[in-house]
Amino acid sequence: MCGIVAAVAQRNVQKILLEGLRRLEYRGYDSAGMAVRNNQGELKRQRAVGKVQALADRLATDPLPGTSGIAHTRWATHGRPSEPNAHPHQSRERLAVVHNGIIENHEALRQELSEQGYVFESETDTEVIAHLLERESAAAGDLLTAFKKVVAGLDGAYALGVMAADAPDVVVGARKGSPLVVGVGSDEAFLASDPLALLQVTDRFIYLLEGDVVRLSAGGLIEIFDASGAVVDRPVQTFEHGDGSASKGNYRHYMLKEIHEQPAVIAAALEGRLGDRSVLVESFGPQAESLFKQVRQIHIVACGTSYHAGMVARYWLERYTDVPVQVEVASEYRYRRVVVPEGTLFVTLSQSGETADTMAALRFAMQQDNYLGSLGICNVPGSSLVREADLSLMTQAGPEIGVASTKAFTTQLTALMLFTLALGRVRGMPEDEQATLVEELRRLPSLCSEVLGLDRPIEAMSTAFAEKHHALFLGRGAHFPIAQEGALKLKEISYIHAEAYPAGELKHGPLALVDSEMPVISVAPNDELLDKLKSNLQEVKARGGVLYVFADENVGLSEADGITVLHLPHIHEALAPILYTLPLQLLSYHVAVLKGTDVDQPRNLAKSVTVE
Ligand code: AGP
Repeated sequence: MCGIVAAVAQRNVQKILLEGLRRLEYRGYDSAGMAVRNNQGELKRQRAVGKVQALADRLATDPLPGTSGIAHTRWATHGRPSEPNAHPHQSRERLAVVHNGIIENHEALRQELSEQGYVFESETDTEVIAHLLERESAAAGDLLTAFKKVVAGLDGAYALGVMAADAPDVVVGARKGSPLVVGVGSDEAFLASDPLALLQVTDRFIYLLEGDVVRLSAGGLIEIFDASGAVVDRPVQTFEHGDGSASKGNYRHYMLKEIHEQPAVIAAALEGRLGDRSVLVESFGPQAESLFKQVRQIHIVACGTSYHAGMVARYWLERYTDVPVQVEVASEYRYRRVVVPEGTLFVTLSQSGETADTMAALRFAMQQDNYLGSLGICNVPGSSLVREADLSLMTQAGPEIGVASTKAFTTQLTALMLFTLALGRVRGMPEDEQATLVEELRRLPSLCSEVLGLDRPIEAMSTAFAEKHHALFLGRGAHFPIAQEGALKLKEISYIHAEAYPAGELKHGPLALVDSEMPVISVAPNDELLDKLKSNLQEVKARGGVLYVFADENVGLSEADGITVLHLPHIHEALAPILYTLPLQLLSYHVAVLKGTDVDQPRNLAKSVTVE
């Protein structure tokens, strides 16, 4: 969602804050702002609607010099994108605050503060925090005491950074429901909602826990207080992915770079987890084997692309482990009465590990009786999901910046196949079957590279889509969720309405939509449903539909059939969902480029959805 960056440094912080905002822009991008305490002890602020560059342009003519500051890039929740609604919010020019998340009791607080004479300049929920701080600091005498009192009265989710005109070189922060990390510098200290923002100045981080409050002061002093108010020591961790991920390299967009990173990151997801002929169950943690032996049922819960990965896994898990699987979107799961048969494992997936609905679902699940435990599959070390799930498996995709998930999805699928094989192993899956899939997993990165070689023909294919308003994606079996993922990608970044159907369902309604104006895209691996799929494609063709098919090289579909066909190398049918995702990603990417949309930061979206 929104992004926070803050600094207490030995140097002018404007440049650090601005670079931090650029790196956080993927989280939210409708407005940005910065407040810095200058040498005269005044809080000075600049805000601008639009991308971070608009703020940079303002700062170029009207800079904000100072050694401590807070900054924010916004994704609107309360109040439209506008300068008055942009953060930081201030109270009487003495206090400034940046906030991610939602304050649920803001209306009551706003009324109370208005009655006490505070004048509101914005429509945001955040502004109440600035005024509450102003009110409490008068009584408390220092910023930290006032801040703790204010935070105790807030309902909802937040990551916060605040500063005060009368607190030189101090920034105070807190996290509850939204991520916040402390960057440890040399005699300097920083705060951010994502370590990526701070890799320009440090690779050492403290991941704050729920309820933590932190004070950064001059000389790099970092004091952390837990939810009970006690002083705590949190470990300093070194960020291991390097800083390369924060740049596009030679690629035009992060999304394209991340698509092309897939062979390497899938190999990284497999590294150290494959034995000669089976998956190493220990890679899921020391308790994994005994836990997996007790599994009788699995519930998979996630959002968006991660949900699609879970849908694919259902086909794998039921096919290879005989364990019944239920898959559900987190925003639905968290609000219904869930029947949990004994021996159920809760599995959750999240690229960010901070998605509000997914985290709420995990917490809700852990309060139910009968769950054996939880497995979190995640891409961000130290994230809430990793900390709170009983077992975790990192997907090793490295930071993903493009809002449309690509490498995060295929590494989630890879991790889910590892999970299938680990569970299969403890439940007696035939050894030959395990060995075959392990061998196929080893071939996967090079097959992915081969498919990425189809970039040019897919780019040529994309010209047929740029003027269209609708598209239909078809798949069968485990490729139905791949079709859904293809449709989501096209919607997200090209703004073309796209739907996905299991191909066998066409005749029950959506066939009525088929005409020459709606391209129909299908994936056709060489699996046991191929003949069924071919019949479904004939149904489309017979009604004047225009078909684009990504097909196995051996399936006997060719251009002569009056359809556009691109052939993919043969792959074991179980792993085909991973490989067939790649051409759909490339197709969406090229359509979006032709349409001239903002590929990496599509309108109305944010990378990490930390509000409900
Ligand atoms: C996918 O392209 C989207 N960015 C979105 O659907 C995303 O997968 C969803 O918001 C869940 O995010 P998570 O994996 O970080 O939990």
